[in-house]
Amino acid sequence: MKADILEPRSLLAAARKVTSLGTPTRVIVATGALHGPHLSPEKSLRAMSAGALAEVFEINAIGPALVAQHFLPAMPRDRATVFAALSARVGSIADNATGGWYGYRAAKAALNMIIRTAAIEHARSHPLGVCVAVHPGTVATPLSQPFIGQTPPSRLFTPQIAAGHILNVLDGLGPEASGGFYAWDGAAIPW
Ligand SMILES: NC(=O)c1ccc[n+]([C@@H]2O[C@H](COP(=O)([O-])OP(=O)(O)OC[C@H]3O[C@@H](n4cnc5c(N)ncnc54)[C@H](OP(=O)(O)O)[C@@H]3O)[C@@H](O)[C@H]2O)c1
Repeated sequence: MKADILEPRSLLAAARKVTSLGTPTRVIVATGALHGPHLSPEKSLRAMSAGALAEVFEINAIGPALVAQHFLPAMPRDRATVFAALSARVGSIADNATGGWYGYRAAKAALNMIIRTAAIEHARSHPLGVCVAVHPGTVATPLSQPFIGQTPPSRLFTPQIAAGHILNVLDGLGPEASGGFYAWDGAAIPW
C-alpha cells in the first residue's frame, strides 16, 4: 500500500495494515528529497527561502519522525529488530568542510537527532531493538542525478547494490549500536 509520510492518518493506516499482517522486525525509511519543483540545494545564504527550508525539513526530518512515531511502538520487544532511516553524510556537522546545501544538510542533521533521541526512548521498552541513521553512499537515483557529475564509477552505486550494502550494515548491528549514524560500509559517521 502507498502511504504519505507527511500525513499521520496515512501512516496510522499503514502501521495498522502492517501489524495486521504480522510484527514488523525491520523498518527502513527510504524517503527523502534534495531537489524538486520548489527545491534546489542552496549554495549561499542568499539562495535560502523560508518555503524551501520548510519543505526540505518536512520531507527529510518530519516525515521520518512520524514514521518512527507510528512504527517503533509496533515492533516486538522480545527479539532483535531494526528501524533505520536513510540520512546523508552531508547531515554530519563534524564532517561539513565544504558548506552549501543549507536546507538538506540541516534537515538531515535534524533527522539524525530525532533518530538518536528515539533510540534512547525505544531502548527503554525494546532492549533488543536497534534504531539508526544510515548514509547509503552515492546512489544513482533521481535524487542524486543532477549532482553525480564527477563521481567515480566505483563510488556510484546502483539502487540494488546500495540496498545490499544497507542490509549488510543493519544485519551486523546489535542493540549497543543503536542511536548511531553509519555509512554504507558500516563505518560510524561522526555527528
Ligand atoms: N541517492 C543518493 O546518492 C543519496 C545519498 C545520500 C543520502 N540519500 C538518501 O537516501 C534516501 C533515498 O533517496 P533516493 O536516492 O532513493 O531518492 P529518490 O529516488 O528521489 O526517492 C525518494 C523517495 O521518497 C519518496 N517520498 C518523498 N516524499 C514522500 C512522502 N511525502 N510520502 C511518501 N514517500 C515520499 C518518493 O516517493 P514518490 O516517488 O512517490 O514521490 C521517492 O520514492 C533519501 O533519504 C536520501 O536523502 C541518497
